[in-house]
Amino acid sequence: MDAKLLDNVKLLYEKDSKGMLKALAELPHQCYLACWELPGQLQLEDSVPISNIVVTGLGGSAIGGDLLRVYCLDRCSVPVLVNRDYNLPAFVGPDTLLFAVSYSGNTEETLSAYQQARQKGARIVALTTGGQLAELAQQDGVPWIRIPAGLQPRAATGFLFIPTLVVLEKLGFLSGVEKEVAELVEHLKTLQKNLAPEVPLESNSAKQLALKLHGRIPVIWGASGTSEVVAQRWKGQINENAKAPAYWNVLPELNHNELVGFKVPSELLSQLHIVILRDPDDHPRVQKRMAITKEVIAQSVAGITEVSASGGNRLARAYSLIYSGDYTSVYLAFLYGIDPGPVEVIDYLKQALASNGGR
Ligand code: F6R
Repeated sequence: MDAKLLDNVKLLYEKDSKGMLKALAELPHQCYLACWELPGQLQLEDSVPISNIVVTGLGGSAIGGDLLRVYCLDRCSVPVLVNRDYNLPAFVGPDTLLFAVSYSGNTEETLSAYQQARQKGARIVALTTGGQLAELAQQDGVPWIRIPAGLQPRAATGFLFIPTLVVLEKLGFLSGVEKEVAELVEHLKTLQKNLAPEVPLESNSAKQLALKLHGRIPVIWGASGTSEVVAQRWKGQINENAKAPAYWNVLPELNHNELVGFKVPSELLSQLHIVILRDPDDHPRVQKRMAITKEVIAQSVAGITEVSASGGNRLARAYSLIYSGDYTSVYLAFLYGIDPGPVEVIDYLKQALASNGGR
C-alpha cells in the first residue's frame, strides 16, 4: 500500500461513488441548514407536559439520538432515551416526546416503534427524507421534518440531530442552541481546512491516523458524558466506510473489565491500535485514568493515538472529534481500496428481510 495514494486527490474523488468526501466538505452548511431552515415550518401544538424524551431509530439515524442524550445530560430536566428496536419501553405514553428518525423512512424497526408510539398516545415528531414514515406522518397528522435526500444516512447526522435540539429549545427544554450551532458551523469550516483531501498527508492528521489504523484493528475509547457517543460513531464509521472491524468502549467503565483483557492472546493484541478521545470536560479522575490505562496497555498493542477535541462549546467539541473520525474512516477505506459509500451488506439484509415478508 502506497501512503501517497491519500494525496492523489483526483483518484480519491473517483473512487468515492456516493460522494462521501463531498458530504464531509458540506457538513458545515448541513449544520447551518439543519438549525435555521429545516425545523422552520414545524408546528408544535401544546399538549400534556412532557416528562421524558425518546429518540427511536437505527444506525446512522440513531446516533444523533445519542448525541442528544449526552448533550442533554446536565441541561435538560427530563431524561432522554435512545431506542434502537421494534418495541418501545413500557414507560412511553402521552407524556413522551418521541422523535422517530429514519433517513430513508423505510427502516422496519423504526416504523414498528412509530406505530407503537401512536398506540400509546406519545407526542411524535418524525425526521425523514420520505418513505413510509413520511406517508404515515402525513396520514396521521404527525409533524415531520423533511430531511434533504441524496446522502448516505450516516453522512446526514447534522440533518438528523440538530433539528432535535431546535425542537427541544422551542419546547423550553434547552436554551442557547442557535449560538452554539453558529459556533459549530464556523469551527467545522476551520477544521475542514485541515482535514480535507486537498491537505497533504504531512499536515493532515486524519490521513496520518488512517495510515496508523491500516492493517490493524481499531479500538476507540471515549469518556462517559463527553466523547462516549463519539467513540461509538468512530467505530460505526470505520465499519460502514472502511468495511473493517472496529470496537469501542468508554472510561471509566472499561477500567473495570476490558482493561484486564490485555494479557493474551498476545499475537492478536499486538494487532490492536487504540484511539483515545479526549475532551477538556473529561472528569479529572478520568483524565488520570486515561494516563494510567495507557501505561498498562502500552506494551501489548500496536499503538496508541490520542485525539483531542477542539472548539469553544460542547457541540463544537463533539463534532470536532466526529469530523476527524469521519475523515479518518473515509481515508482508511481508500487505503484498503474500498469505496466508502456503498453499504451492500445492509442493503442485502434489508432486501432479504423484505422478501421474507418481514417475518
Ligand atoms: C447507512 C447507515 C445505516 C442506516 C440504517 C437505518 O449509511 O448509516 O446505519 O442509517 O440502516 O436506515 P435509515 O437511516 O434509513 O433509517
